[in-house]
Amino acid sequence: MTAPAQPLCIGNVTLTSRVILAPMSGVTDPPFRRLVKRFGAGLVVSEMIASQAVVYASRKTLKRSKAALDEQPAAVQLAGCEPTVMADAARICRDLGAALIDINMGCPVKKVVNGDAGAALMREEALATRIMAAVVKAVDVPVTVKMRTGWDDGSRNAVALARIAEGVGVQAITIHGRTRNQFYNGRADWSYIRRVKEAVAIPVIGNGDVTDEDAALSLLEESGADAVMIGRGAYGRPWLLADVAEFLSTGRRPAPPALAEQRATVLRHYEEMLAHYGHDAGMRIARKHIGWYSKGLADSAAFRARIMQETDPEAVKGMVRDYYVAASDRQAAA
Ligand SMILES: Cc1cc2nc3c(=O)[nH]c(=O)nc-3n(C[C@H](O)[C@H](O)[C@H](O)COP(=O)(O)O)c2cc1C
Repeated sequence: MTAPAQPLCIGNVTLTSRVILAPMSGVTDPPFRRLVKRFGAGLVVSEMIASQAVVYASRKTLKRSKAALDEQPAAVQLAGCEPTVMADAARICRDLGAALIDINMGCPVKKVVNGDAGAALMREEALATRIMAAVVKAVDVPVTVKMRTGWDDGSRNAVALARIAEGVGVQAITIHGRTRNQFYNGRADWSYIRRVKEAVAIPVIGNGDVTDEDAALSLLEESGADAVMIGRGAYGRPWLLADVAEFLSTGRRPAPPALAEQRATVLRHYEEMLAHYGHDAGMRIARKHIGWYSKGLADSAAFRARIMQETDPEAVKGMVRDYYVAASDRQAAA
């Protein structure tokens, strides 16, 4: 099976492929989203933003957020539990350039669910309904919802909530095939995603444990979903989404980029993180990405240890260059 040839539309937004980058706090920041989009992704979604923070943001913060929405179509994910605040935040994001607003109903983290946001909304169907309806009413761009299968095994209500969402005008649903109480344990249940797909007519995006082309195809086959969302599989592989899209539409399996190209990608990503966050935060945040990029390559543990200790960005760039040149030489000699 290959993905349907016609493009997927979410409301008035047409996606360039059926492979979507998951929102991930601390990972899918503007530099990473830009990179993934440049390689090729149907859609990239912002990290979750607290709706309160948007509503009470300073002008300076909002200006920075606007600059972060330069990759169109930009999808902004909002978290929160008050319908009016969520609606106001959605309106502000829309004015800043968001082409889609996504509502977070899947975050399992205590700090978030204790405020009745994220996955906690799955246990509060009436409140969830009011939030979805308020956000849909507030903006003229498509509103989507990302949820889990339910709170726990005894209360898997994503089918019911998806029906409610469709009824109040939500235009697509993403299902991560785990309950809140599973956090990230066990396997994502792709067959449950099929139950949601069969319950609604709006597009359903399947998510959970897709790390390569075969898994993407299996998820789509098992769930019947209209698109696949990839999160952790893209760590250190911003090209993965483009490769999966290519495989789904042609059956061809692209080879990973040559090491010289990987080196150029890491260095460009590094520069963009420094420019986005400034020197100190940029260096700190970049370390985990550089670690992910080098995973699986020879001597990567020693390389990572060196990177962790270095505090001069020019020295880090030199280490990256040397490491990838050595890896290429080794590959050529093998
Ligand atoms: C570090 C991290 C941060 C995440 N942050 C968010 C978030 O901000 N909003 C959200 O809806 N999901 C978030 N998620 C969940 C992912 O979007 C996704 O649903 C989950 O990782 C399963 O997909 P995967 O197996 O492809 O990673 C996060 C996951 C991880 C690992």
